[in-house]
Amino acid sequence: MRVLITGGAGFIGQRTGELLLKQGHQVTILDNLSPPAHDGPPALPAGMDLVEGDIRKREDWVKALKENEVVLHLADHHDYLPSFSKLFHVNTVGTAILFELLLEGKPSVRRVVLGSSMAVYGEGKYRCGKDGDVYPQPRRVDALERGIWDPPCPVCGGAITPMVTDESVARPTSAYGLSKLAQEELVRLLGDRHGIEWVILRYGAVQGRAQPFQNAYYGALRIFALRLAHGQPPLLLEDGNQLRDFIDVDDVARANVMALAGLPTGAYNVASGRAHTLMDLARILLRVAERDLAPETPGRYRVGDARHAVPEVSRMKAAGWEAQIGLEAMAREYWQWLTSQPNLDTYFEGADHLMERTGTVRVAR
Ligand SMILES: NC(=O)c1ccc[n+]([C@@H]2O[C@H](COP(=O)([O-])OP(=O)(O)OC[C@H]3O[C@@H](n4cnc5c(N)ncnc54)[C@H](O)[C@@H]3O)[C@@H](O)[C@H]2O)c1
Repeated sequence: MRVLITGGAGFIGQRTGELLLKQGHQVTILDNLSPPAHDGPPALPAGMDLVEGDIRKREDWVKALKENEVVLHLADHHDYLPSFSKLFHVNTVGTAILFELLLEGKPSVRRVVLGSSMAVYGEGKYRCGKDGDVYPQPRRVDALERGIWDPPCPVCGGAITPMVTDESVARPTSAYGLSKLAQEELVRLLGDRHGIEWVILRYGAVQGRAQPFQNAYYGALRIFALRLAHGQPPLLLEDGNQLRDFIDVDDVARANVMALAGLPTGAYNVASGRAHTLMDLARILLRVAERDLAPETPGRYRVGDARHAVPEVSRMKAAGWEAQIGLEAMAREYWQWLTSQPNLDTYFEGADHLMERTGTVRVAR
């Protein structure tokens, strides 16, 4: 296959590109090498053809599309900082330009695979003893301020139990999630209408070696590891009991290649199928790093975070894909990689202060 990967110089894109090259495919990358993912030109694997450009610019797409047959669209803006307009500008406008060009005479492209996120589910699916399956509203800031972390039933206001969330209902509760859902809907609508095959992959929390530590605004493993490398204990948001599904980047790369090669059109959760709390992750990392420190939960929270994110993975399993790498192996590999890197000092404090200054991370009273 001749594959264009947008955002191909990033964490998931590089790994997928490497796998594609190993399998004998041709890989072009469209990437603007922007911060915070990059703080200089990345060392890309040999064999990738880099077009340095921006998905918000038609002329850059034209240079990159060339004779490529399939597009893995990963370039996006993702942030917890209040850069709302940029989220939509990059994620939706960039995607709309791709489809304009495909309709204007780029018949070589027959399939678009979009890298999306669990963020489209917002708080996800819960069960209420009285009201059955429910999808909670965004958590209220006044409740978070008082340290009330669990969302109530949106119908009766009572206590509810988190469930695994399948692909059927997406209700984002953050600007980022909304921008990803808008991006998904563009791909779905325009792909169906104009006969372009499409696949949407909603990734869990992707971790693994070479996840760039300079982007310390999100990614639990990199944030905890960066603190540990500075002798500080993992600092957990809320009470640390938030459930997440951590998936290794190599497993994600395999899912991407499978989707490019011919997964039937549709949306799929790409995750391990195993839920862990953030506290579990912190303890595993402490064990792997052999540090005698206790995780701290001073009641900090991040506006826009979902309490739990537990995807249902049977669609990908039915298609023949399953995650192979467990959380401890992910943590060990990341710790080994991070502690071999130079210049760790530059990044951590700045990211932490910026999140507090912008009101992105707050402390419950
Ligand atoms: N990493 C995760 O945990 C995770 C989870 C869910 C979904 N995703 C999705 O996977 C995709 C890739 O994520 P990642 O972790 O590899 O991110 P990353 O930040 O490492 O890579 C993104 C790449 O996109 C490039 N980029 C950003 N804006 C661009 C623009 N305007 N034009 C061209 N290139 C641009 C960046 O330079 C970077 O190389 C994203 O769409 C993201 O929403 C990631």
